[in-house]
Amino acid sequence: MLSIKNLEAGYGKVHVLHGISIDVPKGKVVTLIGSNGAGKTTTMRAISGMIAPTAGEIALNGKRIDGLESYTIAKLGLAHSPEGRRVFATMTVTDNLLLGAFPRLTGSRPKGDVPGDLDRAMDLFPRLKERRDQLAGTLSGGEQQMLAMARAVMLNPEVVLLDEPSMGLAPILVEEVFRIIERLKAQGVTMLLVEQFAAAALNVADYGYVLENGRISVHGEASRLKDDPAVKAAYLGGGH
Ligand SMILES: Nc1ncnc2c1ncn2[C@@H]1O[C@H](COP(=O)(O)OP(=O)(O)O)[C@@H](O)[C@H]1O
Ligand SMILES: [Mg+2]
Repeated sequence: MLSIKNLEAGYGKVHVLHGISIDVPKGKVVTLIGSNGAGKTTTMRAISGMIAPTAGEIALNGKRIDGLESYTIAKLGLAHSPEGRRVFATMTVTDNLLLGAFPRLTGSRPKGDVPGDLDRAMDLFPRLKERRDQLAGTLSGGEQQMLAMARAVMLNPEVVLLDEPSMGLAPILVEEVFRIIERLKAQGVTMLLVEQFAAAALNVADYGYVLENGRISVHGEASRLKDDPAVKAAYLGGGH
């Protein structure tokens, strides 16, 4: 599905990723764990074409996507719910969701059932349903975060990148976000998940990678990583 080999990327002269390899098999949830500044967001940006990789290969369903423009990568079926709330503030919730489906409406992605998927997204995110006609900029931070996630799913993507979907949310909304991730997983949605709550991420994920200073230090079945003493000590204690 999504295969990343020896990826290097950074910002100008600052090298952040020093050759990382990650596999996200179809229908699986893979989580990328790491401290602040480890390079998780940079990894997501390099995959979705927001920044250009400087070396390595990224393939989606066997087709190379590294070096392509981000809109081309989206058309190939990769959706990115970026860190922070990136919604279109002056558009309604419904219009934000339809924009997520834009490549399906223009024929550059299989159309499928857009109105049906819109209904299903509203059912998956009841808070958005209640606020469907509200301007996105007037939603709370947590609601905007959910809108960004729902919009990514509206692409009907091959794979979704979720970068800290629970960031800044009240505990009750954090639980809701993880419930939604569980439901997307049950629907067979393939996901690469970055989360500050590493223990919760490992609970929902099939497989995990630990990123340290731009390098993968450990990877394995999520159930095994949860019991790995070094992973426990560094990432699963209080505050994570
Ligand atoms: N736009 C940017 N320009 C320059 N350096 C950046 C930029 N974004 C992130 N960095 C640097 O890249 C490194 C990795 O950051 P990031 O990928 O955001 O980490 P994480 O998501 O794991 O917290 C950090 O040292 C950060 O300061
Ligand atoms: Mg980040």
